[in-house]
Amino acid sequence: MTMADTAKDLTQAAIAVDNTYAAHNYSPLPVVAASARGVWITDVEGRRYLDCLAAYSAVNFGHHNDEIIAAAHRQLDAVTLVSRAFHSDQLGPFCAALAGLCGKDMVLPMNSGAEAVESGLKVARKWGADVKGIPHDMANIIVADNNFHGRTISIVSFSSDATARAGFGPFTPGFRSVPFGDADAVAAAIDENTVAVLIEPIQGEAGIIVPPDDYLPRLRELCTQRTVLLVADEIQSGLARTGHTFACDHWGVVPDIYLLGKALGGGVVPLSAVVADRDILGVLHPGEHGSTFGGNPLAAAIGSTVIEILRRREFQSRSAELGLHLHARLRSLMGAGVLAVRGMGLWAGVDIDTRLGTGKQLSLALAERGVLVKDTHGSTLRFAPPLVITAEEIDWAVAQFASVLAEAGS
Ligand SMILES: Cc1ncc(COP(=O)(O)O)c(C=O)c1O
Repeated sequence: MTMADTAKDLTQAAIAVDNTYAAHNYSPLPVVAASARGVWITDVEGRRYLDCLAAYSAVNFGHHNDEIIAAAHRQLDAVTLVSRAFHSDQLGPFCAALAGLCGKDMVLPMNSGAEAVESGLKVARKWGADVKGIPHDMANIIVADNNFHGRTISIVSFSSDATARAGFGPFTPGFRSVPFGDADAVAAAIDENTVAVLIEPIQGEAGIIVPPDDYLPRLRELCTQRTVLLVADEIQSGLARTGHTFACDHWGVVPDIYLLGKALGGGVVPLSAVVADRDILGVLHPGEHGSTFGGNPLAAAIGSTVIEILRRREFQSRSAELGLHLHARLRSLMGAGVLAVRGMGLWAGVDIDTRLGTGKQLSLALAERGVLVKDTHGSTLRFAPPLVITAEEIDWAVAQFASVLAEAGS
């Protein structure tokens, strides 16, 4: 047996254990990560891959970001968890820093993105009951078709993805879905019992769909006029991914509630948050909502470091500048297997000519060449590398993509 065969055995053995003991709710590429630094992941065979997914934007600041890892180590040696039964010396400073970054008064810390969305929905309903005076159980929330906000029962209740819903009913009532990008449809759907409009400013899982330029400003105006909360799910689009701190910044729009997650935890811990002013988050009182791990000292210390990094704006600038480069390079493949390129900053959705192969097949071929991407909806590849990527690394990744397309077309 050759050394290459032995290495392949390591991959196969690891995948076999996963397949046996881990629920099959994902369909991962056959790459088994063993370590990672910056934009590079090394697998159990010692092969290196350029990570162009960044854990769906949770690793915006690079794998093993030194500053974040140092903060994590310091906090690991101090205190990691007390629950919210006591205070910690990390939670207050984290919440103050995050509120400041968002220009809001208060923060509700949670863990996963879906929890932040669930919590945002609860806050909006409670605000509707307590502040807007909506009769109990009558509140409705307007969402966008093809949204992706997570996987809990309430969230999949308003998903348009049949696979996400099939078999999981009965669903939570109180949601109205209208086409994304259509502010008139939102206006028509709002009634006296509407508490919130929940949107992704740029739809991620739908294929990096950027709305028309007047969409968010019109939603902002509508929500203000009709006393409805504008809730922006910036869990994937936020924290420097698009070249601004928040995707909403591209249109100069400030939502009433920011939902944040993924990169907030620095690629180290799950950390999410609902961020809003006191007249909104103040509707929550003791016992009405909570989470044992939400805002734990380890996550809070890491989150504070992430906010410090964001305050320096280095990654926003990198994403804006290198994003132009990435999009230009990807657009150069139009007509050579690429049908469309969408997105902002270092976030690109690339529609492929499926006559050359499915998104999964092309992702597998790219992995063979050392580039990790993931498809969405079968015909769109997503390029969202850690924001520490260099122009040369972008050129290399796109060259591999060009070769894969050329091979598939030959
Ligand atoms: C916009 C958006 N909201 C919410 C979520 C859910 O986050 P999590 O997987 O951490 O629950 C995601 C995850 O991809 C997302 O992209």
